[in-house]
Amino acid sequence: MQTTATPRTYRVKSFGCQMNVYDGDRMAELLAEQGITAAPEGEEADLVVLNTCHIREKAAEKVYSDIGRLVKNWDREDGSAPMIAVAGCVAQAEGEEIMARAPAVTMVVGPQAYHRLPEMVRAASAGERVTDTDMPAETKFDALPRRKRSGPTAFLTVQEGCDKFCTYCVVPYTRGAEVSRPYSALIDEAKLLVEAGAREITLLGQNVNAWTGENAKGQTVGLDGLARELAAIPELARIRYTTSHPNDMTQGLIDAHGENAKLMPFLHLPVQAGNDRVLKAMNRSHTVESYLKILDRVRAVRPDIALSGDFIVGFPGETDAEFEDTLKLVDAVGYAQCFSFKYSPRPGTPAATMGDQVSAAVMDERLQRLQSALNRDQLAFNAATVGKTCDVLVERKGKHAGQWLGKSPWLQSVHFTGEAQVGQIVRVEVTSAGPNSLGAVQIGMMAA
Ligand code: 5AD
Ligand code: SF4
Repeated sequence: MQTTATPRTYRVKSFGCQMNVYDGDRMAELLAEQGITAAPEGEEADLVVLNTCHIREKAAEKVYSDIGRLVKNWDREDGSAPMIAVAGCVAQAEGEEIMARAPAVTMVVGPQAYHRLPEMVRAASAGERVTDTDMPAETKFDALPRRKRSGPTAFLTVQEGCDKFCTYCVVPYTRGAEVSRPYSALIDEAKLLVEAGAREITLLGQNVNAWTGENAKGQTVGLDGLARELAAIPELARIRYTTSHPNDMTQGLIDAHGENAKLMPFLHLPVQAGNDRVLKAMNRSHTVESYLKILDRVRAVRPDIALSGDFIVGFPGETDAEFEDTLKLVDAVGYAQCFSFKYSPRPGTPAATMGDQVSAAVMDERLQRLQSALNRDQLAFNAATVGKTCDVLVERKGKHAGQWLGKSPWLQSVHFTGEAQVGQIVRVEVTSAGPNSLGAVQIGMMAA
């Protein structure tokens, strides 16, 4: 089997978090600049980028099975092979192993090195196998093309990496130390996204609320200052941010929820567990009480805020009683929507070698109980909007004529009937609520 010469078409498959989606888009833009075009839906691509996630179990195994499938399904008459690049956090963590185990892979590129993808593609086209998992001091962002296309909602990575070292988490090792992108670069990228059609921008970071930078006046500002400047872009209607750490939830950012009308009433603030001993063993550096106090302060300035979080069940040593504390916390908060996971030992993290690993059966049972409590609250949150009106940013057409799909300010998916266009913000009346979406009818158009 011979490697494809210079690829003409590409496909980027992103797994995992929203930052991977952002990175995947940027890689696609880089490849497009090289004259490589996106493979049409349903057709094989000459170059496939698997943009992987390492946060939980079996991610690496999934990469190997994806590679196997790509090779097996490839049936071009010229006998060529697909060019496969493994990118993302599995590439960073297990690059060497991938190269050794999967001969079909010609490129391994880490999350901080993907701006070098074009050179790597050139080398791979000449028959080389290349790995780049450097974490260079210079930022990849400067080397990426200017943003030219956007749908109504866009992601903008403002911060990367993590210095918190929660004992279960692989991110500080795969994404590196906390780094904030400069203020002016972010304002520029946001303006380009808005010119390209974005009405909503979600600011992304592993610890997005740890972002800090220097504004045009030379003052040091936090995420609230960045959001204030972004709010001055007239065509930008909505600003969101994710994911935040409780310890970086400054009063300035909390106040912004009461002051900045474009900052949407939604806060994703992971707590992970509802018991202080477990939180300490996780190295979370907040307690249940300090977490709840933050939520109180946010609710004081923005009573309708939708709260969201992440949970891990079955952290090593978690007892039944400690797990019950997580359920109590859930009852106390009343979340709008959450993510919850079974603990998964990540190689190289401190928790992976802790004693008292919880059995799979116990984790299953705990996850089920937690998820039924979270689902109950999610449905209650959605049901409370029935009969009320709200604004929806229209993201796409529905299946039938006159049906549309968009998001409420509280990040609920809304299906509605009316006369709208993608990118508009319309007023709807909510008529029904399910666990994952709202049904509505359009009653007007916002002046925007
Ligand atoms: N096991 C299970 N869940 C994890 N997360 C991070 N690391 C692990 C792990 N080892 C979850 C956390 C985090 C989310 C992105 O993924 O809840 O907030
Ligand atoms: Fe991982 Fe903790 Fe950092 Fe979040 S704060 S990325 S869970 S180490």
